Amino acid sequence: MTAAPRFLSFARDIRPLFRDKDQQSMRFLFDLYSYEDVSAHAKKILEELEEGAMPCDGPWPPEQVELFRRWVDEGMAP
Ligand code: HEM
Repeated sequence: MTAAPRFLSFARDIRPLFRDKDQQSMRFLFDLYSYEDVSAHAKKILEELEEGAMPCDGPWPPEQVELFRRWVDEGMAP
């Protein structure tokens, strides 16, 4: 039996992917703990994650990038 499909949510699925270090390092541009900021900059954030350019200390594993991409594709639920 497979689980019912569900939309990803920022609070439950995306926000926990960011470390305190990420949030603090990026505060000069946007707040990674803020739904408003992350959804406003989602395109650029996804670009950086896919290139492996961010986080500055090592790329996310592909499954984690895929999760962020899915959240964006689904319309960025809070
Ligand atoms: C998942 C975590 C992170 C995300 C999603 C992220 C995302 C981004 C984005 C979207 C930009 C703008 C790039 C541009 O406009 O060209 C950026 C720039 C920058 N980030 Fe991050 N960042 C993350 C973590 C970090 C960490 C841990 C550091 C470490 C110090 C860092 C340091 C910087 C710096 C210095 C810049 C400006 C210079 C540059 O573009 O390389 N970021 N980041």
